[in-house]
Amino acid sequence: MISQNSIQQILSRIDIVEIVGSFVKLKKRGANYLGLCPFHNEKTPSFTVSASKEIYKCFGCGRSGNTISFLMEHEKYSYVEALRWLAARYNVEIEETETSPEYKQQQQVADSLYIINGFAQKFFSDTLFSSEEGQDIALSYLKERGFREEIIRKFQLGYNPEARDGFTRAALDSQYSLELLQKSGLVNVRDGNAYDNYRGRIIFPVHNQSGKVLGFGARIIKKNDKAPKYINTPENEIYVKSKILYGSYFARQAIDKADECLLVEGYTDVISLHQAGIENVVASGGTSLTPDQLRLIKKYTNNLTIVYDGDNAGIKAALRGLDLALEESLNVKLVLIPDGEDPDSYVNKVGAAAFNEFVRDNKKDFILFQLDIALKDAGNDSNKKSLVVNQVAETISRINKAEDFTRQQDYIKQCAEILRIEESGLHALVNKFIREKVNKEEQRASREQPYTEPIPGIDGEPEASPEALALFNRDEMHEQAMIRSLLEFGLKPWNEEQKVAEYIFKEIEENHLEELIDNRELVRVYQTYKAWYEAGLEPTARNFLYHDDLPMSSLVVGIMDFNHEISPNWKEHFEGHIATREELYASEVFSTLNYLKLRKIKRLMDENQRDLERTTSPEDQMMLVQTHQHLKQMEIELTKQLGTVIFR
Ligand code: CTP
Ligand code: MN
Repeated sequence: MISQNSIQQILSRIDIVEIVGSFVKLKKRGANYLGLCPFHNEKTPSFTVSASKEIYKCFGCGRSGNTISFLMEHEKYSYVEALRWLAARYNVEIEETETSPEYKQQQQVADSLYIINGFAQKFFSDTLFSSEEGQDIALSYLKERGFREEIIRKFQLGYNPEARDGFTRAALDSQYSLELLQKSGLVNVRDGNAYDNYRGRIIFPVHNQSGKVLGFGARIIKKNDKAPKYINTPENEIYVKSKILYGSYFARQAIDKADECLLVEGYTDVISLHQAGIENVVASGGTSLTPDQLRLIKKYTNNLTIVYDGDNAGIKAALRGLDLALEESLNVKLVLIPDGEDPDSYVNKVGAAAFNEFVRDNKKDFILFQLDIALKDAGNDSNKKSLVVNQVAETISRINKAEDFTRQQDYIKQCAEILRIEESGLHALVNKFIREKVNKEEQRASREQPYTEPIPGIDGEPEASPEALALFNRDEMHEQAMIRSLLEFGLKPWNEEQKVAEYIFKEIEENHLEELIDNRELVRVYQTYKAWYEAGLEPTARNFLYHDDLPMSSLVVGIMDFNHEISPNWKEHFEGHIATREELYASEVFSTLNYLKLRKIKRLMDENQRDLERTTSPEDQMMLVQTHQHLKQMEIELTKQLGTVIFR
């Protein structure tokens, strides 16, 4: 883990304009910088970078964040990778904190495995190109299959000689530990003798996202019914099959460019397509896609096209698990290669142009394809058919993101036609599945969330009406404004003795305002700020912007405004010079707190009103009426104080 100290050093050097500017052309415009948004297609720039706030926001697509989230989104780095990238850029030496002994041990094993794999890859490549056996048996085989030297070198293919322990001896001579060699899957031990696991096989190295070798696939050369066609690296500290997509290291940029990822089954399919100039391609190793692999694809594109051979028994297995792709809003298409060919043999036969054309013209929709297969399976059995209807409704119900609504409607229409059932019936069935899922999720959520006291007048309502929602949004805006003024002005003086932060803490405590903040994430920001402040730090929005608690950091990015609209009232009051928020911070702090107080009074009045309706005793009534008048008076005063300042 990177130490806090190093993180602070890295963060203190960040210049968002410089970093973002190395990916996006930026022009100064007023206090901000402006450029064409890298996250969506646009002709006029709406991507804005604020140097002083250290955030960016696109007014076209709405994406916003800080330098780190920019690197995460644009370069697909993890949080830690982004930090390391910045550290390298600014020459900050990273200091690692003490980690648990187990973790350290695991890291050491992982590092050693990478080193051993690197050594092995070189050994196998050298053998392929430089040894007689390699050239005669392996290189000639690869060339016969149509692989050119350039592509063989790019994918770092190799050959493990036939001799019992050619590689093993070389590795032991170079001081690699036998235990780790076994762990890597390169060496086996039987009866006390160590020998090569991939004897006489072509070696396909499997690379991670940065090009390091995770493991190998080893293909037999001569057909042999007794031995498996491929032997793959066993699961170990670095080779985790469910997270690996073969070829992703070489495909990344092409996927980005084409905004589409082709998925094939095998090593040779990937390599042949690359050789033909089709580079946006990865392989799953013939098994169904795992959630981790889907997520990897989703980092690069929303369009997944599966290219399999047509008479492959594995298709159904491959399609399993793809329902998950729908929930992730991936568009999944399917292309079946005809006549017993696979992508490798087919592209070699027809060439790149015809292959591309075939893929383009034969893309089938994944859901409709699945429906097709299921209907064929069901035949005339009406029981089975109704199961198919259920199945398809369930699948469609997973397309449930708001932006996918039209897609869902399209599917309902098309599937109803294919099934020859009423569209409205299928519609109702899909809705039933959605409802069931929502119910299940709610149950789960309520089990997980700690019990919170219901707030009168807000909770306990059966359903939020549009009006209530609008109301809620206004409340939320005031909450945000209050937190924003704490983050921005907390360290400024409030009066001679107090800073703004201290005044806000006191007001919130004395008036019990914390529980009035409905957005509990905002409460978390407040509490975190307070804890930092009380620990002697001087927190600002910056501390949150780069916090590794991403929900909190993105919330803070979201409430930091670029352009503050000044209420027209102010323009009238101060002709000529328009006061800035910066100058008016005291009144902003004051009014945002007042909004919360006002909300509290409103809620108390509602409660009071309800009590009044319920009670029959004249004394109680009297008292309640007095309370009401008292509250009303407070409300009037607060409203008067609030006066003119109304922020967006
Ligand atoms: N596979 C495997 N183990 C096997 C068979 C296959 O791991 N015993 C995986 C490999 O990743 C292989 C993929 O499934 O690349 C597809 O298998 P197949 O079509 O049989 O192999 P190809 O890659 O097409 O190899 P070739 O073209 O040389 O026959
Ligand atoms: Mn093949």
